[in-house]
Amino acid sequence: MENTHKRLAVLVSGSGTNLQAIIDAIKDRSLPNTEIAIVISNKQDAYALKRAENNDIPSIFLDPKQYKSKEEYDQKLAEVIKEQNIDLIVLAGYIRILTQSFIQAFDKDKIINIHPALLPKYGGKGMYGNNVHKAVLENNEKESGCTIHYVTHEVDAGPIIAHEKVPVYENDTIESLSKRIRVKEHKLLVKAINTVLPKPIIRAK
Ligand code: GRF
Repeated sequence: MENTHKRLAVLVSGSGTNLQAIIDAIKDRSLPNTEIAIVISNKQDAYALKRAENNDIPSIFLDPKQYKSKEEYDQKLAEVIKEQNIDLIVLAGYIRILTQSFIQAFDKDKIINIHPALLPKYGGKGMYGNNVHKAVLENNEKESGCTIHYVTHEVDAGPIIAHEKVPVYENDTIESLSKRIRVKEHKLLVKAINTVLPKPIIRAK
């Protein structure tokens, strides 16, 4: 019988709340016919690895120090992912910028990223984590949000799949703003994965 389950590789570096959102959505079937085949982290102490372990999901820490260059690291990363027969690579708080060779090793609609701002604003090199929220607050923006996009050779500039806005309040801090955005991220990521994953074809008998 044809396996209709879609297999995800989730790349992480941090706390993994977005990973958790995917795990929960698979469990409650808001993300049907989907499984996380592997979680890969570039940080040994990423709590995301613990979340994978707690949910019996295979995970690996790929140590950047063990590789001579970014190219070699990403070559290994691509190798691990290809062995898993993956339908979609999800960057869920993965802080390394992927090399061109890695990106070229996969079809252009196979890698998606979540970014905690309304791209194309506040994206690009250096714009990650709290740097993003800090810049948004310094510029007195009235709104921010999150964006899911395809990953292309240009950092944070691939085609946008979905975005969700949140208001920015005058008394916001980096923490309060990032918390408000994080809640939206979790829902949006699951929605985006549902949108981009090829749907199984049900054939009439
Ligand atoms: C999220 O805000 C995501 O947009 C950004 O990194 C953060 C990761 O959070 N790329 P978590 O590890 O999923 O909790």
